[in-house]
Amino acid sequence: MRTRRAVLRASMAASLGLVLALSACGQNSAGGGDEAGGSDAPDAGGIKVGVILPETDTSARWEGFDKPMLDKAMRAEGLDPDIQNAQGDEQKFSTLADGMISSGVKALVIASISSDGGSSVAAKAKAQGIPVIDYDRLNLGGTSDYYVSFDNEKVGALQGQGLVQGVGDKPGAQIIQIEGAPTDNNATLYTRGQMSVLQPKYDSKAYKLVQNQAIDKWDNQVAGTTFEQILTGNGGKVDGVAVANDGMAGAVITVLTKYGLNGKVPVTGQDATANGLAAILRGDQYMTVFKPIQEEADAAAKLAAALAKGDTAAADQVATQTVDDPKGKRQVKSVLLEPQLITKDNVKTVTDAGYIKAADICTGANAATCGQLGIK
Ligand code: GAL
Repeated sequence: MRTRRAVLRASMAASLGLVLALSACGQNSAGGGDEAGGSDAPDAGGIKVGVILPETDTSARWEGFDKPMLDKAMRAEGLDPDIQNAQGDEQKFSTLADGMISSGVKALVIASISSDGGSSVAAKAKAQGIPVIDYDRLNLGGTSDYYVSFDNEKVGALQGQGLVQGVGDKPGAQIIQIEGAPTDNNATLYTRGQMSVLQPKYDSKAYKLVQNQAIDKWDNQVAGTTFEQILTGNGGKVDGVAVANDGMAGAVITVLTKYGLNGKVPVTGQDATANGLAAILRGDQYMTVFKPIQEEADAAAKLAAALAKGDTAAADQVATQTVDDPKGKRQVKSVLLEPQLITKDNVKTVTDAGYIKAADICTGANAATCGQLGIK
């Protein structure tokens, strides 16, 4: 039989545990009075952080991947994220920032439509003592404290390598380049990376550059009509198309299909979207670049959490690289993540990683291809 003292000890331990549990509950629900954060708001009391994404119609990534992944990563860091999309409208981008700044966010994360727009938002935030992170796109000439992205020149180099792989040794192959928005520093970096592979081909006359055309705002429609003008202007001849992302690649493929050239002319892309992967499985697109957005979101969340608490030492442990900002004449503390080249042979990488469901791309004629490639 248990002694009186043991019973007493057991009941004291139980009541102590109960007191601790109740006080913990009190902290959760009272954390910063943030009932809106819901009872599942983490202990840190959900420090308010603002996130502004650039647009929706250039790429499925922003609402499909970045928004949910940033939300999840930030809540895991004890933050209370307010994530908005500027829908490609500079004025809206600025107005969203004003609202977040006046609501007292402790850090601002911006994927800007343009460097100019992003830089003016960063200046407003920093004037209020709010740290700013450039997310995915560096604002040239800006003052943001950190930059989180993928190695975007490497993205371009992979696109160049993919095109060469697809075109092969075709003497005098005629190439059209459809590039991203001139206001997006990433587009400049993609082109620079592509040219690190393609310029030697042009110089040696192995390939001939028909035209290299940047597309404002990454507008997919404009990409298609512009490509068609260039193609018809070149007598309908093209042997390869370097396209900077999947959204515009889809528009280019629509034009190639109109002229019976789809599947015969390699097309590059980026973002490993469902449409891009489905086009690769069909043989209409040669490659895309997979950028595991969760890694980008996790890094941004860790940086934002550190900065929101004023812990720049912790932030500097996350952002261990630097990127040159030639316009601002400064080195920006950065996180540069690794992109991956995806062709038909390794589409499985993206579905296995859970970014795209097999059911969304293994439809129609692709079903058999998915079976052969073990995509399920
Ligand atoms: C870039 C981004 C790419 C691409 C493009 C269109 O800045 O890094 O993933 O999708 O925007 O939105």
